[in-house]
Amino acid sequence: MKRTPIVVLISGTGSTLAALLEASREPDCPYEVVAVLADTDAAGLEHARAASIPTQVVRLADHPDRAAWDRALAAAVVAHEPQLVVLAGFMKLVGAPLLEAFGGRIINTHPALLPSFPGAHGVRDALAHGVKVTGASVIEVDAGVDTGRILAQVPVEVREDDTEATLHERIKAAEQPMLVDVVRRLTAAR
Ligand code: GRF
Repeated sequence: MKRTPIVVLISGTGSTLAALLEASREPDCPYEVVAVLADTDAAGLEHARAASIPTQVVRLADHPDRAAWDRALAAAVVAHEPQLVVLAGFMKLVGAPLLEAFGGRIINTHPALLPSFPGAHGVRDALAHGVKVTGASVIEVDAGVDTGRILAQVPVEVREDDTEATLHERIKAAEQPMLVDVVRRLTAAR
């Protein structure tokens, strides 16, 4: 079976990437992670290296300005010819070059129930607001901050004694299977 190539972008520890990689080892998995890119020396790149998947770090600081970095990132992704681009804890907004190259084929996972609590601190903001239920959302990426079409959501209950860390761990546990499911669905359909 020819599997659908995907590229994953990360910034952090890569537990979401690890879940995508683990699912991709199943024989009936419709996708293959062909490269993992990061904007920083993310610890999560280790998961890709361990699986002998090509990695690349495209740092903003190595480029004269944000527009040049946006072009370099888009070129790095295009080089792997993915059918789908998955932002898995990628902490930068993607610019016009990547959106133009993969319009409608970039998805992001966010640790809150959008449109509530968009942005970089979705877990902290939900906790500070005092919501009793939060969760995670998988969305199509557009030019806004977490404004794209919602593809899937999962609720997670907030506990009295939750800290940002404990709540985020439970969100990740619900978020990862949901993301794997969406990626399987989108890549099987291509
Ligand atoms: C996920 O909760 C994602 O939604 C958020 O950051 C987390 C990624 O963590 N933006 P990891 O680096 O995959 O462990």
